[in-house]
Amino acid sequence: MARVSAIESDFLVIGAGLAGLYAALRAVQYGHVCLLTKTSISETNSAWAQGGIAAAVDESDSPQLHREDTLKAGRGLCDERAVDVLVREGPQCIKELDNLGVAFDRTPSGYELGREGGHSRRRIVHAGGSSTGQRVVARLSELVLQNPNIKLIEHTPVIELLTADGVCVGAAVAPDRVVLARATLLATGGAAALYQRTTNPPGATGEGIALAYRAGAELADLEFIQFHPTALAVPTARSFLISEAVRGEGAYLLNPDGERFMLKYDERGELAPRDVVARAIFEELRKFKTDHVFLSLRHLKPDLVRSRFINIYETCLDYGLDLTRDLIPVAPAAHYTIGGVRTNLWAETTVKNLFAIGEVSCTGVHGANRLASNSLLECLVFARRAVEAAVRRANLSPSPSSKAREELSFPLGKGPGVRFDMQHGLDRIKRVMTEHVGLVRDRAGLEHAIAELSGLEAHSSGLLRDQALVARLIAQSALFRTETRGVHTRSDFPNEDPNWQAHIIVHKDCPIRLEKSLQSESP
Ligand code: SIN
Repeated sequence: MARVSAIESDFLVIGAGLAGLYAALRAVQYGHVCLLTKTSISETNSAWAQGGIAAAVDESDSPQLHREDTLKAGRGLCDERAVDVLVREGPQCIKELDNLGVAFDRTPSGYELGREGGHSRRRIVHAGGSSTGQRVVARLSELVLQNPNIKLIEHTPVIELLTADGVCVGAAVAPDRVVLARATLLATGGAAALYQRTTNPPGATGEGIALAYRAGAELADLEFIQFHPTALAVPTARSFLISEAVRGEGAYLLNPDGERFMLKYDERGELAPRDVVARAIFEELRKFKTDHVFLSLRHLKPDLVRSRFINIYETCLDYGLDLTRDLIPVAPAAHYTIGGVRTNLWAETTVKNLFAIGEVSCTGVHGANRLASNSLLECLVFARRAVEAAVRRANLSPSPSSKAREELSFPLGKGPGVRFDMQHGLDRIKRVMTEHVGLVRDRAGLEHAIAELSGLEAHSSGLLRDQALVARLIAQSALFRTETRGVHTRSDFPNEDPNWQAHIIVHKDCPIRLEKSLQSESP
């Protein structure tokens, strides 16, 4: 048995995006928190979020209307109980962020609300115009850094989750270093950076999903990768997101002929749900044999464009494009992992004392197509619930107690030893995912992808093996679902099929299977 050094904590939170930060701040009211991130506290996907947080906070709105829009976008696959939780508890979370000092944009009569595709009314709370993620994360990071009972450990990836008799007891962060905790909260984000064109930061490669899978947790709905319709498509630019809120303020989508094409596809035009817009753009790209269409804001008031979308305006200027005057080239890019680690309504996974929150999780709120700006809301609502459930399970009381670091012995599996060149391997995954597991899929392409990804997985270890594993599971789930639904488009099965109104579940020890409902018992 190896001798390892251990940190003991009441809560271990893995990931420092919105879900992780918010969970840490709530959990510290009950005990000591260790917050781990593989990057730094400022480099998370949440910080890149532009649109905002959808919540029924306006007098003319209601959780019921938000619920209806969410269910409509989700194409029959949302878990209605999870959606009820999301829309009912959402407004309270906004109030809490307000109390924590997040400066949301306001008008004299209340929050300034934005509109995005699939929403029947303005309900997107935002901060700093289109810098919402960055503003919210910056404020919560500040609070985390000020709190002596939150131990922040940066630049430290998790090697494996530790279980004893099927119960999660923490995580190994190095071959000789572990963090032991009464509750482990996984908040590691999604896997959209497994594609060449992505709106996500490079770290969003799905390792949290692999960690949970290897620890014995069930995963669900992995085939549903959401492509954002409008990422900047300039050869020299990373795929910078041009927020849907831009279309919410009236921007048009034009094809190379200058035609406003969305109305041909959907009567809601540019404000149709995201899957519809992304597929329509894909069709236009194919028809015109081009790699981009255009966003036009030229008919909108320049002052409004500059003030409401300041960071988008400035980034476009860096590429020589003036948002108020030029046509902006855009194309779809991988944006959000709808599936993930299966949870119940309290963010509990199928491994005891392991919770999953935010994009790494699959609560069922997004169904087959996430409604814009519901993701940050999901982070908040389910982080809060995860902490409540963990407190109940571990019988913690609201009196923080800092625990000292101890030395102890712990049996540990082998550490990582990369046999395959990391960057080369990741580039290969991205190429396979983009060519064969992209916006439109078919059987031959998916089978090819699975064979190539399985080979890579078998000949790599550590991080690269986990990335190949997650990519393979996405491809296998996409092959299994022989229909088109929401963001999952099969050219060989172009219609929605009522027999497939069910969730695809994967587990390391069981064959891939279907289940009608995601939610099991509450704690
Ligand atoms: C956007 O601003 O368009 C992205 C918001 C989201 O993905 O929910």
